[in-house]
Amino acid sequence: MIASAPAKVILFGEHAVVYGRHAIVSAINLRCYVKVERSNEIRIKSPIGITGLDFEVHPYVSYAIKRFREIKPINGVNVEIRSEIPVASGLGSSSAVTVAVLKALDGEFETGLSDEEIFEIARKVELDVQGIGSGTDPFIATFGGTWIVPERKAVKIGKIRLIVVNTKEKSVTAEMVKKVAELRKKYRNIVDGIFDVIDAITLNSVDALEKGDIKTISELFFFNQCMLKAIGVSNRKIEETIEKLRELGVSAKITGAGGGGCVVGIGDEGSMLSALKEFSGFLVEPGAEGVRFEDKF
Ligand code: MEV
Repeated sequence: MIASAPAKVILFGEHAVVYGRHAIVSAINLRCYVKVERSNEIRIKSPIGITGLDFEVHPYVSYAIKRFREIKPINGVNVEIRSEIPVASGLGSSSAVTVAVLKALDGEFETGLSDEEIFEIARKVELDVQGIGSGTDPFIATFGGTWIVPERKAVKIGKIRLIVVNTKEKSVTAEMVKKVAELRKKYRNIVDGIFDVIDAITLNSVDALEKGDIKTISELFFFNQCMLKAIGVSNRKIEETIEKLRELGVSAKITGAGGGGCVVGIGDEGSMLSALKEFSGFLVEPGAEGVRFEDKF
């Protein structure tokens, strides 16, 4: 059985969403594909290597199998992973692989799980591995589309394209979420104040996103990035990338946990195409389909 799940960009509100503020998240057209076959032992094959159940090398896949076994006590399974999503880049590769593994297991072992149930298990896996998280990444990998969370209200995004540029430095969500938690411990009122500002930025963006108002989205990306810098999740490479993009007419911000990884930007089509000549990146259309079965691997 084969299944796939999409990558995501957080358009507004990362980190603040861990503390109950709003975020807007969209699935994008890069996917992680998972093939599973019944077997007498557990074997996980990915670009990282081949292992059995291994919580160090393949933590998300191993916990996904462990959680699935609580529902159906399977003896073994062969899991093979092929992904278009760069890992540790802020694009939700961990959640995409988790959700795709669960969907493929569900199909192969005929457990008839609903997408809501797949999301609930993936949410547990996120907490198993990271210990902390808002559930936004497994949510979007499961349901696709564009949403404002935690309300789970769909955002009808206008016809826009975005640019995603990879700084090629690693973004490790658990580390960055912990870093922000430390800062908040020391400066609770300041950091909560910043989260409130991020919340206002996110709420202001809904109308602009629905109208496809590039100018307003650009301004709000700038505000959101300033706040992310203030809570310590930007770095030199990210700032330099964003500055160079700005010179080319593209407004950009971190997407996901930061500390490395990707930035997401917007500008007119010409500006984004010039940016693509200078950077390792791609154009994306927000709102890709969520987890699904596939015919081909
Ligand atoms: C990671 O993609 C987004 C964060 O807000 C963490 C989370 O929401 O779980 C940094």
